[in-house]
Amino acid sequence: MTLNERINSLRERVEQMQAQNKDELERLRLTYLSKKGEITELFNEFRTVPKEQKAQLGQALNQLRQAAEQKMDSLREQVAQVAHQAEVRADLTRTPDPISLGTRHPLSLVREEIINIFSRIGFTVAEGPEVEDDKHVFGLLNFAPEHPARDMQDTFFIEKEEGVQKPEDILLRTHTSSVQTRVMTAAAERFKTDKNASIRVLCPGRVYRNEAISARAHCFFHQVEGLYVARNVSFADLRQALLYFAQEMFGEGTRIRLRPSYFPFTEPSAEMDISCHICGGKGCAFCKNTGWVEILGCGMVDPNVLDACGIDSKQFSGYAFGMGVERIANLKYRVKDLRLFSENDIRFLGQFQSC
Ligand code: DAH
Repeated sequence: MTLNERINSLRERVEQMQAQNKDELERLRLTYLSKKGEITELFNEFRTVPKEQKAQLGQALNQLRQAAEQKMDSLREQVAQVAHQAEVRADLTRTPDPISLGTRHPLSLVREEIINIFSRIGFTVAEGPEVEDDKHVFGLLNFAPEHPARDMQDTFFIEKEEGVQKPEDILLRTHTSSVQTRVMTAAAERFKTDKNASIRVLCPGRVYRNEAISARAHCFFHQVEGLYVARNVSFADLRQALLYFAQEMFGEGTRIRLRPSYFPFTEPSAEMDISCHICGGKGCAFCKNTGWVEILGCGMVDPNVLDACGIDSKQFSGYAFGMGVERIANLKYRVKDLRLFSENDIRFLGQFQSC
């Protein structure tokens, strides 16, 4: 065999080298690359080849040695990996590496707490679309055609003719009160046939408003709406449910205060304050020395709304309330910048209850 042929045959053998363990690796090294190895031997013989063949054979030999060394390196790595796996598999009592669990988002925590509290007095959850029509967000809720909330400056429209208001206009809902109208219209038939029909739902969800983003405002946020419709529902029922909620959420000693207000869809309407949970009502910087902080809007469902949704307002009445989840989360956790809720910064999120 010429030197060239031997190089070629060795190259094939090198390519097919296999090793299962360190001993086999060492055997390969001795066979090919050690001082007496076959490749080293070829280098010794190389000295005797005629000058004119040196360039070509020298290059081929160098490539062979390089290929053999690379192959040895990769086999060495393989053997080490197999050994490591075997070791791991062998010790079944070994303490596993810790898995970090992540945390719940503060808005999820607050939303679920609100739902939990109301579920204990019979409320269930209803959801509706975020992309809504004008009819469900405004029309059925007794908003006058020229109401400023219907303005482009407050509402993100998706399909709308310039200037004209239409019940079919498509927009991003500006409040979860739209789910009220969906739930009521869906239940209208039941209210016609069953004198004891009732609705008791919470509607959590995301809402959108056309606002410049800052520490105190965002173009989307979250609300939980509440709706109770039945026979003889009174303002006293509303007040009692909200007092129960405030004390469950902010502590037993919490007091509430209802201030007259206006919403198109409730009559009478009110805004609810709770006694400041930081100073206990004595007055501090947080409550601007008033002792009270505002947390939600509420009222008796306007008879126009009941009738528009197909529920006879002479037989049935209802109360409704709506609160901002971010607002409650701010009170609970004192988050000063709203943007933190949607930036997904782990340093912020990691401070809340783990999963
Ligand atoms: N929809 C109101 C808002 O987005 C909140 C609200 C106020 C909801 C009073 C209600 C209510 O159901 O009765 O500001």
